[in-house]
Amino acid sequence: MSIKEHPPQDLHVPVLLDSTLQLLSPKQGENYLDLTAGYGGHATEILAKTENYTESVLVDRDDYAIERLESFSDRGTRLLHTDFLTAAKQLKEEGSKFDIVLIDLGVSSPQLDQSERGFSFTNSGPLDMRMDRRQNSTAEMLVNTASFDELTRIINQYGEEPIGQARTIASAIVSNRPLSTTKELADLVKQNHRGKWKKTHPATRTFQALRIAVNDELKLIEDMLPILPDLLKAGGRVGIISFHSLEDKLVKKYFKDQFESGYEADLLPITKKAISGSDYDVHNPRSRSARLRAAVKK
Ligand SMILES: C[S@@+](CC[C@H](N)C(=O)[O-])C[C@H]1O[C@@H](n2cnc3c(N)ncnc32)[C@H](O)[C@@H]1O
Repeated sequence: MSIKEHPPQDLHVPVLLDSTLQLLSPKQGENYLDLTAGYGGHATEILAKTENYTESVLVDRDDYAIERLESFSDRGTRLLHTDFLTAAKQLKEEGSKFDIVLIDLGVSSPQLDQSERGFSFTNSGPLDMRMDRRQNSTAEMLVNTASFDELTRIINQYGEEPIGQARTIASAIVSNRPLSTTKELADLVKQNHRGKWKKTHPATRTFQALRIAVNDELKLIEDMLPILPDLLKAGGRVGIISFHSLEDKLVKKYFKDQFESGYEADLLPITKKAISGSDYDVHNPRSRSARLRAAVKK
């Protein structure tokens, strides 16, 4: 299905936009690499300041996003439809260097809103959750074929559910297979959840866990981070926005290791602490859990 069939839900409001612009301070003529360009919210604002479309690169693994980014391509910007690890390796091999790099992790609002993508427990859809639809394995395959132990591990590690709760959910999944829709899974988790849930749906953590597993999200971040210094010019700035503690932990550790490696460090901190999106933008609920960290290449 084409994105043209989704115009009303297509809105993605970029999070922490003012802080991102302030920290990365794009200047006229600088080139820009956006490793998670999504719907081009940050890219639009940054490129409006640099006005360097032709030496900039926008990456996303989602074909809906890439289709949406075509207006940048019309202005000479290169689009790469791939995951950010593959893109980072390719750009490094080509010897490309950038003044500004941005990574805005996680899913976009349109991905969550389009029920057929299978990310949402509020709008029922197929259990899909693939960011890149060329990939074979879906959440449905995972949920219906993984062992009890594997499901427990995923829900515990990636969903951060306590181990007892993770076992209960995994056991309910195994006993009720096959599952094919997000609503079936969300209802099942709700029935089997002992926690007190007032503000968020009881299936929030299980959905996060399955999404991370389906898209191999943490491994890609971990492997991409050490390539960043190679992609920056001296004085180049990188900003990373994360949305949950597992992502932020990886970014925080990578930056900390960099900053502590003394004269050998490639990157120096711009942010001492993460800039938090909590209460930042009451009109954009996604921003509440956002955390921005930034660094500059020596
Ligand atoms: C939060 S959105 C980015 C929104 C964007 N900054 C904007 O303002 O429109 C995250 C995007 O990153 C993409 N993404 C997530 N993980 C990725 C990865 N490992 N490689 C490439 N793209 C990824 C998703 O498909 C999604 O479009």
